[in-house]
Formats: sequence, C-alpha cells, structure tokens
Amino acid sequence: MIPKQTIDEIFEAAIIEDVVGEFVPLKKRGANFLGNCPFHNEKTPSFTVSPAKGIYKCFGCGKAGNSVNFIMEHEHYSYPEALKFLADKYNIEIEEEEQTDEQKVAANERESLYIVSNYAANYFKKQLHDSDEGKAIGLSYFIERGFREDTIEKFQLGYSPDEWTAFTDAAEKEGHNLSYLEKTGLTIVKGDKKFDRFKGRVMFPIHNLSGRVLGFGGRILKSDEKAAKYLNSPESEIYHKSKVLYGIYYAKKAITQEDNCYLVEGYTDVISLYQSGVENVVSSSGTSLTEGQIRLIKRFTPNITILYDGDAAGLKASFRGIDMILQEGMNVRVVLFPEGEDPDSYAKKHTTEELKEYITNHAEDFIRFKTSVLIGEVGDDPIKRAGLIKDIVSSIAVIPDQIKRSVYTKECSSLLDISEQALINETNKILRQSFSKKTSQPESIPDEAFFPLQEEEGSNNDETVHWEKDLMRLLISYGDKQIEIETVNEQEEKAIQQISIAQYIVVSIQNDGIKFDNPIYQEVLNYCVHQLNEGRVPLHNDFTQHENQQISQFAIDVFSSQHELSPNWSKHGVYPVTEEDLLSKAVFNTLYAFKLSKLTQSILENQEQLKTTTDIERYTELIKELLHLQKVKQQLADKLGRIILK
Ligand code: CTP
Ligand code: MN
Repeated sequence: MIPKQTIDEIFEAAIIEDVVGEFVPLKKRGANFLGNCPFHNEKTPSFTVSPAKGIYKCFGCGKAGNSVNFIMEHEHYSYPEALKFLADKYNIEIEEEEQTDEQKVAANERESLYIVSNYAANYFKKQLHDSDEGKAIGLSYFIERGFREDTIEKFQLGYSPDEWTAFTDAAEKEGHNLSYLEKTGLTIVKGDKKFDRFKGRVMFPIHNLSGRVLGFGGRILKSDEKAAKYLNSPESEIYHKSKVLYGIYYAKKAITQEDNCYLVEGYTDVISLYQSGVENVVSSSGTSLTEGQIRLIKRFTPNITILYDGDAAGLKASFRGIDMILQEGMNVRVVLFPEGEDPDSYAKKHTTEELKEYITNHAEDFIRFKTSVLIGEVGDDPIKRAGLIKDIVSSIAVIPDQIKRSVYTKECSSLLDISEQALINETNKILRQSFSKKTSQPESIPDEAFFPLQEEEGSNNDETVHWEKDLMRLLISYGDKQIEIETVNEQEEKAIQQISIAQYIVVSIQNDGIKFDNPIYQEVLNYCVHQLNEGRVPLHNDFTQHENQQISQFAIDVFSSQHELSPNWSKHGVYPVTEEDLLSKAVFNTLYAFKLSKLTQSILENQEQLKTTTDIERYTELIKELLHLQKVKQQLADKLGRIILK
C-alpha cells in the first residue's frame, strides 16, 4: 500500500503534459496540447492534453485519463506500478506502509525466484554464444532454423549444456540457494541427488508483461530420443501457465497499434513471425487457451486472429475453446495455413510481403469459418444437419453483444439455408437455459412478471439513471463554483446566500434522504460530505485523481466529454454558450428532475407492492406512504428554489 499522502504528492508532481510528452510529441493548441494518439493508429492528431484539467482525451478512440492512467495504459502497468514509475521519475520516495511478516516472506520468496530465473536466462545465453558446445550444437541449430542473430539476441535464446549438473553447479557456485533452483524447476532434486531439468536443450525464456523471466521452454535436439520434444518449467510462485502467453512482452506494443493479436501454437511460430515483421503475435505454448490468457490479450485489444496449421482434426478439437473467447466478447478470426505448413515454416519459405498478404487474404470470421468447415462434413444428412445447426447456434449464443448475435444469426441463416426465426428460437432456448442455470429460476417465468404497472406515468429507471448522472456531472465539474440561493432558517426567516454548488447539492440531497442508485455516485456524494465537513470544497482534481479508480475514471469521462476540450470548436471558430453561463439554472433544473424521477420511482414501487400485499397492516402502511410521497411530489416544485440550512 502506498500512503495517500505520497499518492497526492505524485499527482502534484506528475504534470500531465510532461508525463504524456515523454511518450508522445505534443504541440500547443490554444489552452491544450495536441498529438498523435499512442493508443490507435491515426494520421491527423486528435489526442488532446488539457493542462488545466490534468487529463488527456483522444477524440479518435475515446481513451481518456489522468497522468497515472496514461502510464497504466501506455506501459500496461497496474495502478501501484504506475505510481511507482512516476515516483521514480520525479524523485519521490515511496515509503510503503508496513507489510506483515507473512507478506514480506512471500514477497522475498517471489523476488528470489525472479532472481534465480534471470540468472538462469543469462547463463543459458552465455552458454549458447560463448561455449564450444553451445555454439556447435545450440547456436548452429537456431541458425539452421533460419533465426537471425538479432532475433536470437532479442528473444534471449540460450543453451543448457548436456551434462547432469552443469547449470546447478554454476548457480550454486554463484551463491544461489538450491531451494529456489528447485522451486523454479530449473533443478530437479530427488533425495540427495540433483540434476538439471533442461540438460542438453535449447532454451526459450518466457517473460511476463514487463519483461521479467518467469520460466522456460526447452527443446530437445536429438531426434532419436523418447524424451518429450519440449520441456517446460513447472508451475511456481512466479510462473502460472494459465496466465502467461509466450511472446506477450515483445508483442504488446504491436498488438495495441494493430488493434489485433495473432495467436499461434508454439515458440518457434512466434519467433519466426516476429522475425518476418509480424510482431503482434503470441502463443499459448501447446496447451489450449485459458480464460486468464484471453483476458491478458483483452487488455490490449478485443480482436484475436488464430493462425492454424492445416490439420483438420486439430482444428475441430479447438472449436470448443474458441467459444470461450467469444464469450469474453472478443472478435475472433482464423487463418488456415496450407496443408503441412505452420506459421513458422510458411514464414521461412516466403517473403514478409507474401506472409502478410497470405494472412490478410485468408483471415476469416470464426463463426463463418466454423459453419463452412462443418457444412462440408455434414452433406445432406438431415440428422447431422440438425446437430450442425445446434452446434453453430451454441457458438452464437455465448456472444454477449446482442447486436453481434443478430448479425451472425442473419449470416448463418443464409449460409445454412435455414430461416432466421428458427435460428433465433434455437438461440433463445440456449440463452434461457443458461439464464435459469445461473439464477436458479424456473425456466417458465410468466411473461407478466416482466410487465410494469402503468398507473404512474412519465418516469422509469432509465430516467433516474439519466438525471442522477447529470447531477453528478454538475457536482464534479462545477462543485467549487458559487451560486446564489434563497435560504430559510428554522424561524422561517428568508435570506439570499452564496454557497458552493457542492454544498447546495449535498445538503439538498441529504435533507430529502435520497440515495443514488449507482453506488459510485453514492460514494462521490459521501466523499463530498466528508470533504465539506472538514471545511474543504472538493475541486475537480480531487475527483480526477481520486484513489478509487471508478470515481477517477468517471470524473475523467465527465470532463473529457465537455465541449471545450474538443479540438473542433476553436477550429471552426465556434464558441458555444457554455453551461457555466447558466449554471444555477442548470443545477436547479437537474436537481428538480432528479428528485422528481426518484419520487415517481418510489411511488411506482409502492403501487406495485400495494397490488400484491395480502397483509392489511402492511397495506395501510403503504397507503400512508403513498399519500406522503404524493404530497412531497406536489411540493417539490415550490420548494426547489429554497434550501433549509440546519
Ligand atoms: N509443446 C510442448 N511439449 C511438447 C510438444 C509441444 O510444450 N512435447 C508445445 C511447445 O510450446 C511447442 C508447441 O507446443 O512450441 C507446438 O508444438 P509443435 O508444433 O510440435 O512444436 P513447434 O513449435 O513446431 O516446434 P518445432 O518447430 O521446434 O518442432
Ligand atoms: Mn514447427
């Protein structure tokens, strides 16, 4: 945990244009700075940095945030990592809050495993380049496979000598603890015997996002052996296979830029493609893709393209796994390589242009691809056809986006030559089943259960959602601005008073005992209450730099959607009347509309309960409450311009 005070200090030092400027060339444009967005490809700059607000916003791709968010997004750091990065840049010392002894031991142990792994990577690299055996066997193997010197260097490939304890001995001599060597799996310990796991193999270090070595893959070179072709590090404190992708460290930048990630089968496919200029490529290293790996990719792009070697059996086996990717809401495409070729071999036989062209021309949407592969097998057999339809529909049903689902339904209806309605029915059946599984509701929920009562008109939840958001927007954008309001004290004496918008909104909401539906808004309000009680009026920085990421992101979205940030306004010489000019009116109106919709919502709920209650006492209570609500609603309009200060 980094103390709040230090976080504030970091934010104060990390001036937005300075932080962004280190990565993106910026030009001054009026009050703002403008540059090419680092998060998507663009030719005309639409990436805007506002020094006054301390935020950035891209009007092309919509990304927005504060200094810390920028580092998180650009460097793919977590929140604390980004804070540490900035603290380092601005020479701010971070005194971490006390860790428990257990936390310290765990952190130390992980760190030790990293250190041992890093040592091993360097050792294997040195063996490959400097030892006679490494050069004669390992290096010549890589070169024969067509890897260039710079590629071998980049991926930190290595060689583990063909002796039982060469590595372990060297490591121990350097003072590395055997227990860490064992925990990373580099050394296998059996009783009082120990030996090198990767004896006589060429080595592929596996890196995490920030480039630290977590584990290894080692390929055997002798073809006559019964031993597995590849050996991998076992799971450890630092190496969790299901969350790691080979090549992600090298690929992450290109994945963001291309807004697409290629997925291949093995180490050599990654390296060959990268060497050929296709850098946005990762591999799950022989196993089927896990949810953790999909999420890892999703941090960089929603688009994934799977590159297959042309083997029909393997292809069909992978279909199930791909549903999981669809389920994450990602767009999946596939490229099938010619029979007998994998991405590695294809890249070797063709030029970069040919390779890229092949991939582009053969990329096909997964569902379309699956449909056409399966159609080919089914032929005219009606039973098999029915099975096929169920199979395709099961893939469509997992897609979370309703619009996408309907696009696929349309398309498959023509591919399969079956009516769209039949596919929709089939999809709904699956959705209904999974809904009832998730909620343990019976499948036959009567439709009436979903019909709202109509007595009260003019309000629904959507409306409350809209107004409460708008109220928040005013609170966050203009909380420190003063407005004039009429006040009455307990003796009913009226006066005109200047008060901050934050205070006005807070008091007026609290007096009526209203709670926001959205928990984030409620937290914003609580935060304001707290600040005001301490005698501080919250400023916009307090929100955009709030330690709760949901609050800061919301505040940033609010700010960055305001028109004065848009580069287009001044370009066209248009200066709209700003909301600020009409501030008190905006605040009054919004509060009124919000309260009205809240009240109406309560009345509706009350009426609904009235319909169903069978208990006479409860019924009377509800009626009383209803009358009260209706009275408050009537008075709302008159009361709104005034405020009762306690
Ligand atoms: N793999 C593994 N263990 C094995 C075989 C394969 O972990 N016994 C993984 C490796 O990550 C490998 C991937 O599965 O890279 C793909 O396997 P394969 O196609 O056999 O390997 P290639 O990458 O093609 O390796 P090479 O070209 O060196 O034969
Ligand atoms: Mn291969």
